[in-house]
Amino acid sequence: MQKDVLTHCGRRHSGPSNHQNSLLTVSSIALTQFKNYSHRVFRFNSRIVGITGRNGSGKTNLLDAIYYLCFTKSYFSTAESQNVQYTMNGFRIEAALLRHAQEEKIVCTVKDGRKTSRSTMNRTTASPATSAISPPS
Ligand SMILES: Nc1ncnc2c1ncn2[C@@H]1O[C@H](COP(=O)(O)OP(=O)(O)OP(=O)(O)O)[C@@H](O)[C@H]1O
Ligand SMILES: [Mg+2]
Repeated sequence: MQKDVLTHCGRRHSGPSNHQNSLLTVSSIALTQFKNYSHRVFRFNSRIVGITGRNGSGKTNLLDAIYYLCFTKSYFSTAESQNVQYTMNGFRIEAALLRHAQEEKIVCTVKDGRKTSRSTMNRTTASPATSAISPPS
């Protein structure tokens, strides 16, 4: 039986159409001490990605990490201690995004209970990730 979480990317698209170009896509995501992931990098290279793995292997946790990047909080829990890997004191979620053919990096961290998030576009710190990607609360 498949033990680990695997992602399955469809056929690479040959070039972005205008519609694809306007989409925000996640090219890769690196999880460190986030829930059951000690350290893991996922790379996505197509528009449609399948996630498979046995029960409890971390499929939902991977989706929650993507949610976290968007809203700077877990879908499931407001207590950050629930998101930090058991016995650790922090986590880091880092993603490379592509929007309008430009690369953007988003990093969310929690360390010793302190939460940070930032977004970097073309190697320039643009703004806190919160204001860049989530609706005003
Ligand atoms: N803070 C945490 N530290 C370490 N492990 C955690 C933490 N929070 C959750 N887990 C582990 O994550 C696993 C659950 O992962 P997840 O819910 O993503 O699995 P899944 O692949 O979606 O399972 P299913 O197929 O049942 O939906 C459990 O083994 C749980 O112990
Ligand atoms: Mg699940």
